Formats: sequence, C-alpha cells, structure tokens
Amino acid sequence: MESDKPGQIPSFKVHISADLDDFARNSANFFLEVVNKPEEGQRQLLVALSGGSTPYPVYSLLSKPPYREQIPWEKMHIFWVDERMVAAGHEENNYHQANMHLLSLVPLQKKNIHRIKSEQPACQAARQYASLLSHFAPPGKTLPVFDFIFLGLGEDGHTASLFPGKYQADEMEHPVIAVSGDYQGRPAKRVTFTPALINAARHICFLVHGKEKAEAVKNAIQGIVNPLQYPAQRITAGSGAVVWMLDQDAASGLDRSRTRDFTP
Ligand code: 6PG
Repeated sequence: MESDKPGQIPSFKVHISADLDDFARNSANFFLEVVNKPEEGQRQLLVALSGGSTPYPVYSLLSKPPYREQIPWEKMHIFWVDERMVAAGHEENNYHQANMHLLSLVPLQKKNIHRIKSEQPACQAARQYASLLSHFAPPGKTLPVFDFIFLGLGEDGHTASLFPGKYQADEMEHPVIAVSGDYQGRPAKRVTFTPALINAARHICFLVHGKEKAEAVKNAIQGIVNPLQYPAQRITAGSGAVVWMLDQDAASGLDRSRTRDFTP
C-alpha cells in the first residue's frame, strides 16, 4: 500500500474529466485498455460490476461500437460486487440494471454471467457466491484475482455495500457477506464483497461524478484516516491498483497538489 506519510491514505491515481461525456469515455477507455492487456496467456477475464446509476453512461459506451467490437467478451466472466436482495427482475436489482444497460447488448456467454441469487436468504446467497468465487481462485489460493472491479461511492461514503459506522463481524473472515444498509430508500438487505476480496484485484476503478459526491470523495481520498466512517478507505489494494475516475464536480473538494494524475 502506497502512502505519502504514516497514517495517511495512499496517494491514489486520479483522473479528472471535464464533463460527463468525457468521464464516460475515459472510464470506457481505461476498461478497454485493461481487458485488452490480460496477464500473460490468460484464458479468462474476471470483471465485477457495482450497482447504482453512475456506471450507466460507461456501460452505454461499452455496449456500442467502437468499444463493443474491441472487447474480448468471449473470455469475460461477470460478477457483482454487491446485490440488493430483491427479485432478479426488480428495477432496483443490480443484475437487472447491468443486464438492461450492458449485458443484454453485448456477446457475453450467458453461462459466464454470475448473478448473486437475490431471491435466496442473504446469508445463503453470500455463502453460495463465496463458493462459486472459490472456483475462480488461482491454484493454491482461496480468493479469485479480479482483472477489473467497478466501484461506486455513495454520498454517505459507502462503497459496494460497505456502509459507514459499522464493521461486520465476519468481514475479515469471508470474501462475501450479508449486510443491511439504508441509503436513499434503496433495498437495505444486501450481499457484498468484503475489502479482502476487492483488494486482491489487479485493477479497481472507482466511478464517481457529480457535486453531491465531492465531500465523500475528499473524505475517501484525502480525509482523516477513518475507515469506519469512510468505508472507501478500506479499498487499499497494492500500489497502482486503485484508480479514481472522477468528473470535475466530484473532484472539486480535492487538494490537487496531493493527487497523482492518471491518464488511461
Ligand atoms: C449499490 C452499489 C453502491 C453504489 C453507490 C453509488 O448496490 O447501491 O453497489 O455501492 O455504487 O450507492 O450509487 P450511484 O451510482 O447511484 O450514486
């Protein structure tokens, strides 16, 4: 974990786009670059999606030319960082939202789309997803190494379904856990990746735009170190793995002299 000074959050890479179109294009370019530069001889690509509306413009670009034709969909396995425990066809279901905005529009193999079984009790769905994920772990390891994980950020500072003010007792022992969190009236019962699973990824991309997120971005990247209050601070993968794709509004609270600029 890179850190500027002891007790400070690592100086993550940040890309600040001029506007929403620029944000979507730069985020899509970053994803395209990563999935077309797989690890040596890699047979499959593991990608995890987050819920929420921020990714929609990025998904929309990826589902159309020229991106659609340049992405090795046939090698890709799609997972979810978290899921709200509502029916798969419910408008607030993360699988449903991603399917509508991206997955149904690209040549992904249906068997490679691994949704969280949100119709089951959350604890059962979490156990089952952890078991599924273990089949994708490298030999001798227990956690899969995701090639690309999309993360969002709530105005309250949550990411995935890791909410402020609480550590889950089983957060350190399991890669996937059942949680509950109230946010903007969205379904509270959820299943989520834990930081250990997210931090094992090769590339972690926070997608954040809008003025309403500026405070949460500042706290996550340059605030006092308080991972309980600012759960995004728990995402501290190996140096260089975490990139914050922002627009100018979301970045407006940052001290730019303390950010490391990143260009996809
Ligand atoms: C979820 C998401 C969550 C989301 C943030 C941001 O299931 O709610 O995974 O972590 O990324 O809440 O949501 P918006 O993009 O809608 O602001």
